[in-house]
Amino acid sequence: VKKLIIKGGQLLEGEVHISGSKNSALPIICASLLCQEFVKLFNCPDIEDVNRLLDILRELHVDIKREADYIEINSHSLKNIAINSANVSKLRASYYLMGVYLALFNHVQINMPGGCDLGSRPIDLHLKAFRLLNGKCEVNYDQVLIDSKKLKGNKIFFEIPSVGATINAMLASVFIEGKTIIENAAKEPEIIDVANFLNKMGANITGAGSCIIEINGVKRLKGTEYYVMSDRIEAGTYALMAAGRGKEVDIVNFNHKYNNGFIAKLIESNVKFKILDNKIKILSSKDILPLNLKTGYYPGFPTDLQQIYLALLTQAKGISKVQDSIYKSRFKNCYELNKMGARIIVDENVATIYGPHHLNGAEVTATDLRGGASLVLAGLMAEGTTTILNPEHIFRGYSGILEKIRKINGNITIA
Ligand code: UD1
Repeated sequence: VKKLIIKGGQLLEGEVHISGSKNSALPIICASLLCQEFVKLFNCPDIEDVNRLLDILRELHVDIKREADYIEINSHSLKNIAINSANVSKLRASYYLMGVYLALFNHVQINMPGGCDLGSRPIDLHLKAFRLLNGKCEVNYDQVLIDSKKLKGNKIFFEIPSVGATINAMLASVFIEGKTIIENAAKEPEIIDVANFLNKMGANITGAGSCIIEINGVKRLKGTEYYVMSDRIEAGTYALMAAGRGKEVDIVNFNHKYNNGFIAKLIESNVKFKILDNKIKILSSKDILPLNLKTGYYPGFPTDLQQIYLALLTQAKGISKVQDSIYKSRFKNCYELNKMGARIIVDENVATIYGPHHLNGAEVTATDLRGGASLVLAGLMAEGTTTILNPEHIFRGYSGILEKIRKINGNITIA
């Protein structure tokens, strides 16, 4: 078992290159199976979640070639078998195989997908979409079984704009004759990326990125090449590290168009920055101001950056409140931050952060991916040595995090 060791207090300086988006790459890798030909994907992040997904696909007889700058996927021998790899219960995104298998085989049997423990994470909206497309769904303990004689187009209204359910509905309906309409669809940029990829393979999807998506079924898809968008959450994470401890740090491959909810909060908390072509330059930011932050569906403030922003707010001059309305118990990192000297009180889905409190190195535990990243930021800001246990949560979603932090002068090692 490994631990991360951070010696805090270094001033960060230099450039960080943001990798491809995790939440885009995972569904795109699954979607590539729909053509049953060769697909070449550039800019997939080198993270554990991608490795796990590729391992699941290998068990389903997909050929995968992983080169330094691309992954080649050939699914012509993909098997219509039960998807019961142990990895399914460790990876939330394995639910995208439901939509893919249903589209290809009218049938799927899969273990219940797992993922970060952020409180309750149901899949009822996914199943509702499959039912509306004429699928029969059964859930027995940890097995999901979906069958259909023939999928049929329909109008699917989501009462919550779920990212996963929206993408799954798009995947399931690519081959359905006629029209499928998704209303109150999630509008996250990753949905646009997945739709662009499907269209590049020959699908006919319009409206992705808006709340109404229309899918007109096509007979087949063909192999293609695709460049995955950059990771807006990874970009936000490094921007916050730079805000907390930076002299001057360039975050390269930063698409400001997709980060407005985040940028608005940087301004409000007095982080000094400049937006340039494809990067954001974070300048030394001494007087962080407290703020009220609520997570929202895109284009609101992303829940995936909430825990990391919260670590920065331990250094703000005054009291901040952070509310997560999407994942109500996404606050386990607060107890760890308090071990380092922060003063945070969590009441239901609201954290009150009393800043500024001096942080000291301590032994803390990463309990989930983004919570783990918040501890890395805290460790960089703290005086002395921070040891982070269970860092595997962090490696699930951050490509080359040790190298990237060292390159900007952070002192981080693994032992
Ligand atoms: C995706 C992201 C995750 C991010 C989240 C919100 C992936 C692999 N994961 O997760 O990193 O934190 O979006 O931006 O892309 N819900 C239901 N029933 C469902 C599905 C969701 O009630 O069937 C609820 C959830 O509990 C949550 C809300 O809808 O409160 C949004 O969840 P959703 O957008 O589906 O998140 P995920 O796709 O799981």
